[in-house]
Amino acid sequence: MTPSAARAELVTLLQMAYSGERAAAYAYLGHRRSLSRPKRSADRAMLQQVLIDEIRHRRVVRHLLSQLDAAPDPRRERKMRRIGLTIAAFCQVGGWYAPMYGAGKLERGNIEEYEVAARLAHLGEHPHMVDQLLELAEVEWDHEQLFRAAAATHWLWRVSPKWPETDVRSHIRTSFNEFLTGDEPDPTLRWNPLR
Ligand SMILES: [Fe+2]
Ligand SMILES: [Fe+2]
Repeated sequence: MTPSAARAELVTLLQMAYSGERAAAYAYLGHRRSLSRPKRSADRAMLQQVLIDEIRHRRVVRHLLSQLDAAPDPRRERKMRRIGLTIAAFCQVGGWYAPMYGAGKLERGNIEEYEVAARLAHLGEHPHMVDQLLELAEVEWDHEQLFRAAAATHWLWRVSPKWPETDVRSHIRTSFNEFLTGDEPDPTLRWNPLR
């Protein structure tokens, strides 16, 4: 892949991530609101922290886009706002389990999204972006663990289809280093919504 092709893919992927963070923020606002009973205060605190992280991610991704002389995609922004608000509405009627389960599954995809972005940043000759993108992947890893652990406390977890387990957190960095040394088989193709 040429550096300019990698940069173009990185811009598209970051536009998707930026708007995805918007959908996530709306969804988690609704999710937090649905946890109104006093015994759900620990869940609310967890959602609050995740929400803060997603808002910060959006700031970071916006900054990276501007460094690439790019901007968010307004159409995708509108679409992901609608999706976020729809999920938020569902959280009011969807019970406790479905939002936790759905969030875990979505966060699993977010990890790989930022791992792919880090590789594209390297291939696109923006090495200074790599560490920030890997850090975003690590925080999404934390989110996936929180929601997986929460969902696993519910009896429905036993009968629900499971998304693939994550590797240990440190794998995010070690697999990136393997990619740098050429030991990883074409990792940008492992998960890439652009293909
Ligand atoms: Fe995020
Ligand atoms: Fe997240």
